[in-house]
Amino acid sequence: MLLNRRIIVGICGGIASYKAIDLVSKLQQAGALVDVIMTEHAEEFVRPLTFATMSHRRVYSDLWEASGEAAETHIKLAEEAELLVIVPATANTIAKLAHGMTDNMLTAVALATRAPLLLAPAMYTNMYTHPATQANLATLRERGAFVVEPEVGRLASGAIGVGRFPETATLLGAIHQVLGRHGDLAGRRVIVTAGGTQEPIDPVRYVGNRSSGKMGYNLAVEARDRGAHVILVSGPVALPPPFGVEMHLVETAMQMRDAVSDFITDADALIMSAAVADFRPTRVAEQKIKKLRTEATGQHREDEFSIDLVANPDILGELALALKGGHAGEQHTGISIPQLKRRLIRVGFAAETEHLVEHAQAKLQRKQLDLLVANDVSRTDSGFGTDTNKVLIFHADGAMEDLPVMPKTGVAAAIWDRVVPLLG
Ligand code: CTP
Repeated sequence: MLLNRRIIVGICGGIASYKAIDLVSKLQQAGALVDVIMTEHAEEFVRPLTFATMSHRRVYSDLWEASGEAAETHIKLAEEAELLVIVPATANTIAKLAHGMTDNMLTAVALATRAPLLLAPAMYTNMYTHPATQANLATLRERGAFVVEPEVGRLASGAIGVGRFPETATLLGAIHQVLGRHGDLAGRRVIVTAGGTQEPIDPVRYVGNRSSGKMGYNLAVEARDRGAHVILVSGPVALPPPFGVEMHLVETAMQMRDAVSDFITDADALIMSAAVADFRPTRVAEQKIKKLRTEATGQHREDEFSIDLVANPDILGELALALKGGHAGEQHTGISIPQLKRRLIRVGFAAETEHLVEHAQAKLQRKQLDLLVANDVSRTDSGFGTDTNKVLIFHADGAMEDLPVMPKTGVAAAIWDRVVPLLG
């Protein structure tokens, strides 16, 4: 997505400017053509050579170069840019941008370009929260600028507060989101479920599964990068929440069912990539269950111990029933669908260890899905925890596609490629 995209990275004079080196490096590695413009103050913190080395291109700074070339250059840069990112954005530069002032190369380009503006303010808390800075940011937002809020944490001064420069991953997420805002999912609301559910046994134990959430998180990020409003309903996973995605953390299948039920009314698509536990313990012990011991000796007894399980609701199954006008099974409260505002495209996953095609086709029918993505989790290049996946995609009309092994990012793109034409 970033290949050959023309991105200007403006660096202001803040201590966080050294962190922007990593961003420039990652953008260059992703194939973007990165033109760095530094303010005079930025050069006090980091030398232009560092950015030139990372961007593999010359760095711009002086609007008043004796050759007079810079005057032409700033127009050329401004016209060619697809995005202007200012990191870190200092209170001073934010103020100049809000008032249309141009006294250096960066502010001149900012005024001359029609490319979207993305700012990541980073500064001392009181400067950030000052009404002047907030009013200037509000002005810029009104004009269409995208602002990545600074994080709360330890600042250069040693104080803890808001004003910390975001992680590179957050900034890359914001850049992808802005560049993809007019993509083929623009204006769509999509729900993705991810990870496995955890069904509590007692306060310290649960019944779970091996799902890492990687497939679902990749699906959420891909949809965000194509312009969708993404709701990610996630079980407990070890992945950071993606930037620009509405997160809803759940633990159990019942909570996941309730979350899906809450959001489907105005959704265009639901992709259930979560590994929902089919059963949960019938009773959750209030206190930690202790080892069985012989009363007289206190010795550990090697008796069998069992946990009774009860079926969880089948979220996609209930949804299929509800959409057909039926009602869900008696032991379940059932998904409630007040009135769907549009046709909801439903995509399921099937993780199988045998008879992949038969099981997948049966699931697609049983859950009345538009698409079913099946993978053989006994393969080493596929399924739980891996970064690659080998999937078969089954369509409602009976068609089946056998996709090669690819990174989960590629599988996510392939799935959305097939959902988009169904959205109508
Ligand atoms: N699913 C669901 N609710 C459940 C279980 C699964 O909505 N309680 C969804 C999964 O998110 C997935 C699809 O249904 O998209 C298929 O899940 P899977 O566990 O493979 O199917 P099951 O119907 O549970 O069949 P089985 O466990 O017998 O293979």
